[in-house]
Amino acid sequence: MFSKETYSNRRQRLQSAIGQGIILLPGNDDSGMNYKDNIYPFRQDSCFLYYAGIDRPGLTLVIDVDNNREILFGDEATIEEIMWAGPIHSLASQAAEAGLTDIRPSSELPDFLWRCVNLQQGIHFLPPYRGETTLKLSSWLGIPGGEIPRRVSVKLIKAIVSQRSVKTPEEIQQIDDAVNTTIDMQLKAMELAAAGVTETEIAGRLQAVAIAAGGNISFPVILTVNGQFLHNHPHPTPLQKGQLVLCDCGAENAMRYAGDLTRTHPVDKKFTTRQREIYDIVHHAYQTAANAIKPGIRFKDVHLLACEQLAAGLIELGLMKGNAKEAVAAGAHTLFFPCGLGHMLGLDIHDMENLGEAYVGYTDTLEKSTDFGLKSLRLGRELEEGFVFTIEPGIYFNPLLTEAWQAAGKHTHFINYERVAEYRHFGGVRVEDNFLVTATGGRILGRPFASTATDIENLLQS
Ligand code: GLY
Ligand code: MN
Ligand code: MN
Repeated sequence: MFSKETYSNRRQRLQSAIGQGIILLPGNDDSGMNYKDNIYPFRQDSCFLYYAGIDRPGLTLVIDVDNNREILFGDEATIEEIMWAGPIHSLASQAAEAGLTDIRPSSELPDFLWRCVNLQQGIHFLPPYRGETTLKLSSWLGIPGGEIPRRVSVKLIKAIVSQRSVKTPEEIQQIDDAVNTTIDMQLKAMELAAAGVTETEIAGRLQAVAIAAGGNISFPVILTVNGQFLHNHPHPTPLQKGQLVLCDCGAENAMRYAGDLTRTHPVDKKFTTRQREIYDIVHHAYQTAANAIKPGIRFKDVHLLACEQLAAGLIELGLMKGNAKEAVAAGAHTLFFPCGLGHMLGLDIHDMENLGEAYVGYTDTLEKSTDFGLKSLRLGRELEEGFVFTIEPGIYFNPLLTEAWQAAGKHTHFINYERVAEYRHFGGVRVEDNFLVTATGGRILGRPFASTATDIENLLQS
């Protein structure tokens, strides 16, 4: 945990931003996978973690802004629970580490909240993403479950997004740590990838790296020779000579901060000429975007800049034609790059996505586009010092999308479908790193790690 001042200051700032009423932050519970006692790995709610720091199930934080008090509802482990699981830190001691001293049994929470409802104290709560939380909110507040999404507090969402978006030095240290473990995962993938080894075998070993480092994976490992499908999960199929392996993985460290990196490398440890040509275009777009980071620039403009670099490279190779800027304005590049350049990163791999992309990645004056491609851009707003996010351009040869576009005669001024047909079995290339906005520009997170084609080949062959 961070110091208790960190958590107290975060809660004080939130209180000031909300001004009146009750802030209700339920933590997560254990959840059965296939029966009650066989549970999914416990993952605390990130907002609860941010304000209360306590990584255990069954807790709810109530901040009573009207009366300037903070109450943690939860229970000490019973002797029967200790009998099965062994001793754990007392809740009182963990709460004290977070600066919380008023602890009450969870059985008192429903009555407490019902009194607040009757006193017409406004109750601010966030959009739930687990059914159990919806049920709890519904019964505590007397709101039908189906109405909960319409009753969430936009004021609370905006206050939390504004606070969590700017990472403090102690948070950046944690993300650096998660990224370093993610680099270890990437190195393991490069070490293991060889003809005959299966995708699932490698993916399993990457998860082991994250767990051994004291945390877990920040999302299910994407390790695939079918990189043309953006989030294709591993299959028990053996790698073959000549293929490209796209590995998109992340570690969540012990403090639950995430890393999220992608590298694409050849099974044969050396790119073919065709693979290297595509790789270099992607890497050039990545580098151009990384060089553009600074406070005040709109990430949507960084995205479009990267798209223009991708289009320019594909025009040079003869896969696209015409003018790169015009091709991007028309959306023709989305055949090869149908998604966004990046997303916020922090306690969540897509940071705060449960609070709504409209609030996290966009603002009142910049709405998310509904156009193909841009509708998948999770971050569009102006960057501020302290923001942490990914840059992850790619070129994907999706034969199904190509066939559909060609049949519909889409963007024939900009796409050379005959040449694209030659890449039908190419797959996809993505390069992804994690960046911090500094006062004057950007800084890559984690220790130095190969990303150019030459550096990756050198690493594979070392
Ligand atoms: N790892 C999923 C993503 O990059 O968004
Ligand atoms: Mn990502
Ligand atoms: Mn990723």
